[in-house]
Amino acid sequence: MALQTILFDFTLDAEKTATSSQRQDVARVVRNELEHVFSQLELAYSMESLDGGYFAVLHENKETIITCRIFQKGLLTINVEYYLADGKEPLMSFDTMRTMELILRQKLDSDRSKYLPPIKRGGYIDIYMTSSACMYTFSSPKVIASMQNERIIEYDIDTLVYEARSPFQKIQIMHSKTLGNMLILDELQNIAESDLIYTETLMGRGIENYEGKEICILGGGDGALLYELLKEKPKHVVMLEIDELVMQACNKYLNTICGDVLEKRKTEQYEIIVGDCVEYMKKFIADGRKFDYVFGDLTDIPISGAPIGECWDFIRTIFEHSFKLLKPDGKFLTHGNGTSCLESLQLFEDQLRLLKPKVKFTTSKAFVPSFMEEWLFYQVTFA
Ligand SMILES: C[S@@+](CC[C@H](N)C(=O)[O-])C[C@H]1O[C@@H](n2cnc3c(N)ncnc32)[C@H](O)[C@@H]1O
Repeated sequence: MALQTILFDFTLDAEKTATSSQRQDVARVVRNELEHVFSQLELAYSMESLDGGYFAVLHENKETIITCRIFQKGLLTINVEYYLADGKEPLMSFDTMRTMELILRQKLDSDRSKYLPPIKRGGYIDIYMTSSACMYTFSSPKVIASMQNERIIEYDIDTLVYEARSPFQKIQIMHSKTLGNMLILDELQNIAESDLIYTETLMGRGIENYEGKEICILGGGDGALLYELLKEKPKHVVMLEIDELVMQACNKYLNTICGDVLEKRKTEQYEIIVGDCVEYMKKFIADGRKFDYVFGDLTDIPISGAPIGECWDFIRTIFEHSFKLLKPDGKFLTHGNGTSCLESLQLFEDQLRLLKPKVKFTTSKAFVPSFMEEWLFYQVTFA
């Protein structure tokens, strides 16, 4: 059950919607067509002529509301909104939507039109996410907003496999027909069964040699990076993950990508430490521990245990600590953001340029199936 909203729009010659009486004429054409398409509904009309030209059509018991707006500049929009209960037939089939669009386009002599299939709201399973987060810092020192680059992504999710709230985040595993099980943290897609390319690009498979190396993973709770790295025979890997519940969920529902590495917390080859990576990095620095590789596989907006006001400050803290843990020829490898998020990537690179001692970086990119976009990855070394 969900609220369904079907959106139509038509571009008309602006000359034909300039005056109130012209807009009334357009409204009449639309009304006739709506009466025909929705002949099973007893439509009651309320028509209002505002400056922008507007009329609304209401279903008698107000379960279905169809609003139509006619703008002076030649834009006509029709929104059909109704509640679809489980097991009921949709109000409009694909054929009906397509036919209504074509007929109105012809009758209104429109040179372009479009309809969007139903947007579903209020359902138990949320099938929409937004494309990569572009982070900006606003004037208040405490306020960080994660602004999306405003593209809606619709997934073919059919099952909510798991849902829990840990002390740190909302954890969901959803099943997508094409991507397999997906890990979603605080409404953001993290990794799916389809995403080996994410892990392989992050680790530079075939480019980096991990044999006999000492590695530290920051975050990485889905276990995929640890699983893939262990195949390359490193000397030892330590993983610092804050959220025990993420690992439990992934161990159960994402083992196609993490194998059985999350079953045990400690073996000869690796150790998983549950805690805030910043705290453990400080401890490692104090102990003089050094690594050949440090991986940043944290959530896009990492969970800050410390009262560091700005998200970018926190990310910079992670960079600074990582470089204190690296051997002189060591590498810091991390994911950045969607390649379309230019401002965010610029800010990310600005933080790298602020580091002392100076660092240099290269990038690689890959289209990550479950992100439905191209993602940028960084390889950072001492300059
Ligand atoms: C699931 S991994 C993978 C990241 C990913 N592929 C993405 O899309 O961002 C991210 C992990 O970072 C962990 N994390 C976030 N902040 C952390 C912190 N301060 N210390 C340790 N782990 C942290 C989260 O709990 C999460 O499990």
